[in-house]
Amino acid sequence: MINSDGMNAEGKLLYEGKAKRVFASGKPHILRVEFKNSLTAFNALKKGSFENKGHINRDIASLLFQELNKEGIASHWISNAGDVDMIVHEVKIIPLEVVVRNTLAGSTAKKLGIAEGNVLAKPLVEFYYKDDALADPFVSDDQILMMGIATETEIQELKLLAQKINQTLKRIFAVAEIDLIDFKVEFGKDHQGRILLADEITPDCCRLWDMKTQEKLDKDRFRRDLGNIKESYEEVLRRLKGKLS
Ligand SMILES: Nc1ncnc2c1ncn2[C@@H]1O[C@H](COP(=O)(O)OP(=O)(O)O)[C@@H](O)[C@H]1O
Ligand SMILES: [Mg+2]
Repeated sequence: MINSDGMNAEGKLLYEGKAKRVFASGKPHILRVEFKNSLTAFNALKKGSFENKGHINRDIASLLFQELNKEGIASHWISNAGDVDMIVHEVKIIPLEVVVRNTLAGSTAKKLGIAEGNVLAKPLVEFYYKDDALADPFVSDDQILMMGIATETEIQELKLLAQKINQTLKRIFAVAEIDLIDFKVEFGKDHQGRILLADEITPDCCRLWDMKTQEKLDKDRFRRDLGNIKESYEEVLRRLKGKLS
């Protein structure tokens, strides 16, 4: 858990995760997040990296956070710094991975015995308990309440926010001729108790399929050894930049 005590010496490393490093900014309630070149899957059992990944993911995440802000979705993003850094509002992360699915793929498709690629009539929101030691297990609303992770009102707020984020992301990616299959987001509370969208939205935590060819443009290329990982991440950024600027 990150705890900067409000203010820490600029540049102090507060947390190193699988894809990012979090530093104190020297300013109260503000952090600097560095996007690393490393890449992990299956709860870090599989490890890799590629050149320029940090830069690509920082740029994709910042573009998406800015577009979401335009739609009234508050996020931790404040500004970009250098090539791989993002200046953000510090939050206390709510330990839930909030997943939205438009098309079934991955663990839920497998668990329910439904073929990957099944388009859902209504987007599905799921919660997973963010805990590496437990391998991020699925949790029900009642389990979230039982563990005191969020209140009933907060659960409903998270679901509503997730649906709203999905609508906006779906639209943005569609313009870039990409199908948003599913994604994972994290939320946190700032020092005033406001819920903000935090962490990252990148091909590491989204499934993105080319609309025409159905080709995967996301971390599944790494999980499933499909090759061209770097090229796919670059392609996502290139298309978003081309359409959003
Ligand atoms: N605005 C923020 N304030 C505090 N912590 C954050 C913020 N945004 C993201 N985080 C946390 O910082 C860490 C980012 O590093 P990452 O490499 O993604 O970690 P992990 O390996 O735990 O997924 C995560 O634990 C994430 O929840
Ligand atoms: Mg992470």
